[in-house]
Amino acid sequence: MSSIQEIYKGNTRKSFKLFAKSKKIHINGVHHNIRFFEPYPFITKSAEGKFLKDVDSNKYVDYWMGHWSLILGHAQKKVQKKAAIQLKKGWMYGTSNENAILLSEKISKVVPVAEKIRYASTGTEATMYSVRLARAVTGKRIIAKIDGGWHGYTTDLLKTVNWPFDVSESQGLIDEKYIVSLPLNNLEESLRILESVKKDLAGVLVEPVLGGGGAIPATEEYLKGIQEMAKSNNALFMLDEIVTGFRFRYGCIYPTMKLDPDIVTLGKIVGGGFPIGVICGKDEIMEHANTSINSKKSRTYIGGGTFSANPLSMIAGDTTLDILKNKKNVLYKKLDGLGNETTKMLKKIFSEEVIVTGKGSLFMTHFPRNGVTEINNAADAAKCDSKKLFNYHFEMIARNGIFFLPGKLGAFSDAHSSADVKNMKKATESFVSNLKR
Ligand SMILES: Cc1ncc(COP(=O)(O)O)c(C=O)c1O
Repeated sequence: MSSIQEIYKGNTRKSFKLFAKSKKIHINGVHHNIRFFEPYPFITKSAEGKFLKDVDSNKYVDYWMGHWSLILGHAQKKVQKKAAIQLKKGWMYGTSNENAILLSEKISKVVPVAEKIRYASTGTEATMYSVRLARAVTGKRIIAKIDGGWHGYTTDLLKTVNWPFDVSESQGLIDEKYIVSLPLNNLEESLRILESVKKDLAGVLVEPVLGGGGAIPATEEYLKGIQEMAKSNNALFMLDEIVTGFRFRYGCIYPTMKLDPDIVTLGKIVGGGFPIGVICGKDEIMEHANTSINSKKSRTYIGGGTFSANPLSMIAGDTTLDILKNKKNVLYKKLDGLGNETTKMLKKIFSEEVIVTGKGSLFMTHFPRNGVTEINNAADAAKCDSKKLFNYHFEMIARNGIFFLPGKLGAFSDAHSSADVKNMKKATESFVSNLKR
């Protein structure tokens, strides 16, 4: 056993016991596969600001930030206050409520495609409904996604998420032939694939910054080329902004590239850390889901669900957007600054031996090998040394009280500051010097 594992185990004895219980009753002890890491994940007791605290009273500066949903930090005071008021008034009406209208008005003001909005409780549902709408509106079947693109666990979109992309992600999937996959930022090859399926192409779904696939921004040229191809072939151009929405500016990223998507999905930040998924679309498309004007034969059935637009998620999202709007000039500059500072710091400490990808406050360290010199898509990222990245992240958890979900990208929140970059620098220096021993 390596000493770093011993340190971790020594620090997390209560977590060890609790996780053993969890494993007895839960699949692999967790409720999202990515939350498991070896030898066992610590058990969180509370969270505030930039910190996670575990059951052994270890405190970690968190860069996972609730799957990157907490742009204001954990348990942000104003969001907490509004949620507490809502709790007193009831948290689950199962009926229409004004909070949803308040949030939608805010979203639609800055997300031009959001002429109509439908809420769900997760991003997974939002992308699932987008796929259904695309097929219904076009009368075609094939959806194109990106290699390494993650849109949640839906049966349709659970394809080409992890390397090797030509091996199915899971048993139990059907009709995988109706999903094709494109290499991000390789327009020529992507257009060639789309050309081959254009007659049956219902839509293309792209993350403007590949999130789980490696924090890799799509170029404007790539997105414009894909959009043009989709539109000229009567297919929908859909952007998944579940990670990027309100992350880099007050609104989505796509208007800055003058893109014109038919559907945009949101989640994470717009729920203020409470469960949410949002389908935003143009009137002409969303009207297909309107059950008042469509008969059973002509309608496209999309959710919600039991918890959709629950007043708690809606008020947390509304309050979060209020805060972001009021602070936007300072906040996004601050977050981008922390991201840039970190990127420079990491490149320096690792003597240019790493590639740091990302955008603004999202960043990811890659340890290149296998001839990789640039990371433009998920295949490049997959060739890098993931074991080394795991070791780096794990060492920071065990020794330095810094938490990245091992192997994943990090995100800054308003609760972080330059002092955290300095701490990460120290931790990184010590990792590098331990490597040399
Ligand atoms: C780009 C993207 N789309 C969709 C999803 C799925 O959202 P959820 O986990 O809320 O179902 C995620 C989750 O990480 C995501 O990153």
